[in-house]
Amino acid sequence: MSAFNGQSNSQLILALSKGRIFEDTLPLLEAAGITVTENPETSRKLILGTNDPNVRVIIVRATDVPTYVQHGAADFGVAGKDVLLEHGGEGLYQPIDLNIAACRMSVAVKNGFDYETAVRQGARLRVATKFVQTAREHFAAKGVHVDLIKLYGSMELAPLVGLSDAIVDVVSTGNTLRANDLVEVEAIMPISSRLIVNQAALKLKRERLQPIIEAFERASQSKSQ
Ligand code: ATP
Ligand code: PRP
Repeated sequence: MSAFNGQSNSQLILALSKGRIFEDTLPLLEAAGITVTENPETSRKLILGTNDPNVRVIIVRATDVPTYVQHGAADFGVAGKDVLLEHGGEGLYQPIDLNIAACRMSVAVKNGFDYETAVRQGARLRVATKFVQTAREHFAAKGVHVDLIKLYGSMELAPLVGLSDAIVDVVSTGNTLRANDLVEVEAIMPISSRLIVNQAALKLKRERLQPIIEAFERASQSKSQ
């Protein structure tokens, strides 16, 4: 299957989300000699051109990046480990950790809620999160019974209005938790973004993709040193 049906094997489609992933991927693209010629923050266009007529960037929701790449609508993309764990990774080759959009997945509760005691006493916890797979696995491994409440954003609100006892969300500076009188009680795992490649595209377009993958790898390694 090739991205944008009917296009030749020299055409490449990269799926990115607006915001931090787009911004942090730009220097990696530059290292591969690719410059995006339009700004998704000011343009309403969802297909962006680059200095290479054979490379285009599509702008999708962060959680949708693996879906576009899995189905071959994009040849490759950049997605957070958080998003990839929820998606499952089917049909995706994940060659590199790009060390961008770094944060951690954590459990947080309202200041004053005694999480340790609740866990020790075997209380059934209500946990609100966008990351239900990750949360389910985390609490199952600890032997903690939870009722998971699926949300799509603003998780920090849930304990404040009594929707949940705890949340599972990504934390970076901790500013959002502090601003909402929440405290981090458990770090689940470190998170960063990965390059993902459609498995069929990797075979059919290897000649075009390999130099870009290698440039991304070199640039992300030099950044993390
Ligand atoms: P969607 O738009 O689909 O709801 P989103 O709002 O989580 O997704 P972004 O905020 O752009 O999308 O986050 C993209 C990725 O960046 C996340 O999947 C995560 O890996 C990482 N990330 C999220 N929040 C932070 C943060 N505060 N600091 C650093 N990285 C983060
Ligand atoms: C993410 C996440 C937290 C916040 C954590 O939100 O959902 O709310 O970052 O970062 P901090 O620890 O540095 O405060 P984001 O900024 O992506 O907003 P969004 O969820 O509305 O996209």
